[in-house]
Amino acid sequence: MSLQKFDPDLIHRKADEFESASLVEILRWAWENYGERAAIGTSFQGAGIVVMDTAYANGFRFPVFTLDTGLLFAETLELKAKLEARLGIEIESLHPEQTVEEQAAEHGPELWKRHPDLCCTLRKVLPLQNKLKTLDVWITGLRRQQSDTRQQTQIAELYKFDVLHDQYILKLNPMANWTREAVHARLRERDLPVNALLGRGYRSIGCHTCTRPIGETDDERAGRWTGFDKAECGIHTFLGDNI
Ligand code: ADX
Repeated sequence: MSLQKFDPDLIHRKADEFESASLVEILRWAWENYGERAAIGTSFQGAGIVVMDTAYANGFRFPVFTLDTGLLFAETLELKAKLEARLGIEIESLHPEQTVEEQAAEHGPELWKRHPDLCCTLRKVLPLQNKLKTLDVWITGLRRQQSDTRQQTQIAELYKFDVLHDQYILKLNPMANWTREAVHARLRERDLPVNALLGRGYRSIGCHTCTRPIGETDDERAGRWTGFDKAECGIHTFLGDNI
């Protein structure tokens, strides 16, 4: 959306106010102001599930989408189906332009082993960018506690994500100040389904090619892109600085 739609000062004030607001209050504000122009993007990890459940339990029927890289675990896709049944919704799968086979034909096999950044860009960042062009608000499950790179996350952030076309997006991270324990407590309390891999040592789950199980004391995201100096796939960094 163009900037006329957003008042940066209001968003900064909201970011401060939301620090002491409940998840329901934040989601209600998004629903009342943006309705279906606000969408939840989820990888079906704990925080995203809590966001979806809270939204739908309160009648905030945000569209939900997931970036299906074609390399997700079967367990992740099973969880998607369970959540669709539980919430009574269809979660939109966004696909990359090329299948994994087409990508291999153009860039060589197993691109993720040689150029994980390029692979993430092709399979996650570009499909997300196309989706954001159709939205005013992107609701995520990001948490500050997940990693060093996420500690500065604000609950409401405004980005100019497409400089050429003067496109802005309001990114809402209503879980930013939640701890892992609080997320787990809510999942249990609401008897929500979770990824079956969580019981097998996986803590942060992305593509099966670039995710491995880790120890209890490791950093939550230590199992992502092991062996590479890479902590982010790019969907939370391509937006540049918030304004
Ligand atoms: S990632 O960027 O490294 O993959 P992570 O898995 O920790 O992120 O998830 C953080 C947030 O990014 C999620 O709560 C969700 O909002 C968004 N996200 C991550 N992966 C996806 C995906 N495959 N589809 C949609 N949103 C995603």
